[in-house]
Amino acid sequence: MKAIQFNAINALAVEEIPTPQVVRGEALVRVKAAALNHRDVWIKLGQYAGLKFPARPGSDGAGVVESMGPDGDPQWIGREVIINPSFGWGNNPQVQGGHFTILGMPRDGTLAEFIAVPVSQLTVKPAHLSWVEAAALPLAGLTAYRAVFNRAQLKPGEKILISGIGGGVALFALQFAVAHGAEVHVTSSSDDKIARAVTLGAKGGFNYTHPGWAKTAGHAGHSFNVIIDSAGGEGFESLVDLTASGGRIVFFGATRGDPPVLPMRKIFWRQISLLGTTMGSPTDWAAMVDFVARHRITPVVSEVYPLEQAAKAFALMEEGGQFGKIVLTM
Ligand SMILES: NC(=O)c1ccc[n+]([C@@H]2O[C@H](COP(=O)([O-])OP(=O)(O)OC[C@H]3O[C@@H](n4cnc5c(N)ncnc54)[C@H](OP(=O)(O)O)[C@@H]3O)[C@@H](O)[C@H]2O)c1
Repeated sequence: MKAIQFNAINALAVEEIPTPQVVRGEALVRVKAAALNHRDVWIKLGQYAGLKFPARPGSDGAGVVESMGPDGDPQWIGREVIINPSFGWGNNPQVQGGHFTILGMPRDGTLAEFIAVPVSQLTVKPAHLSWVEAAALPLAGLTAYRAVFNRAQLKPGEKILISGIGGGVALFALQFAVAHGAEVHVTSSSDDKIARAVTLGAKGGFNYTHPGWAKTAGHAGHSFNVIIDSAGGEGFESLVDLTASGGRIVFFGATRGDPPVLPMRKIFWRQISLLGTTMGSPTDWAAMVDFVARHRITPVVSEVYPLEQAAKAFALMEEGGQFGKIVLTM
């Protein structure tokens, strides 16, 4: 079968490798479509903890169950499924345990024609989604769901600001918050992406490349009950300034690195909660898939490429040119 492999830092290759063997408890899935996450870029650039080469990336996949491991339930064969990329969460709903991993390094990922995964990670594909849309959902949908509902506890009518709206997780957070009846605002480096977010239900947005954007937003009377961020870096202090007293800032990434300053006095005096989050538990996963099916949410797909053109797909994500998920088809 064909699979994407990194043989060293920045050495992406489409390799011909043996189809994986399934062991007891696993299913072999013929992947129809797989999506990229920024995590795959960090792995390609050699900037991911515990990285070993060769690495076979990909956390998002949708496909058809082809066969089962020994004594597996044959009823799974032929089912259309999506894969939960959050492996080994453990028993504590508040935090993942010591055996937690994410699909696609160290375990071989979804950017391949076939993948062997534990049956417990499979969920029937929501019927309203195409293969491409279904592949776009898992990692970003799960991360956004836990951030918005489990960690931020967003309530209908609250004001929420989502930074970097071109990102995969950010767009799911937007769609979930709109469906929940919140007032959504966004930030982006691109006025065009802000305009597209408005067509998805956002009330408005701010271009974070404009100097003083946060001060202007504050002077216009904006303050937010919830802020969802994955950029961190120098801009983080502006997000604190825009948080309402008693508000919550949830973050799951640090694309721009650590904030140089943490304004502690502003945070404690205004009773602001800083909440970290990562991926999600099996309960978050089930609730997310149910929410998406109930609200008939369709993931925003930016571009679709054949597997052989994975290098183009990675280049687009590295330059931040996408609006939504980048999907590869097999
Ligand atoms: N902990 C977890 O479980 C988890 C899960 C998923 C992702 N992550 C992390 O979260 C981050 C985003 O992941 P993703 O897959 O959604 O990435 P992505 O689809 O590649 O999106 C990245 C987006 O970040 C935005 N951005 C860049 N610089 C920014 C800045 N200074 N301020 C605000 N936004 C900025 C850009 O938005 P615009 O184009 O709109 O400017 C860009 O589109 C990555 O660091 C990733 O590793 C963590």
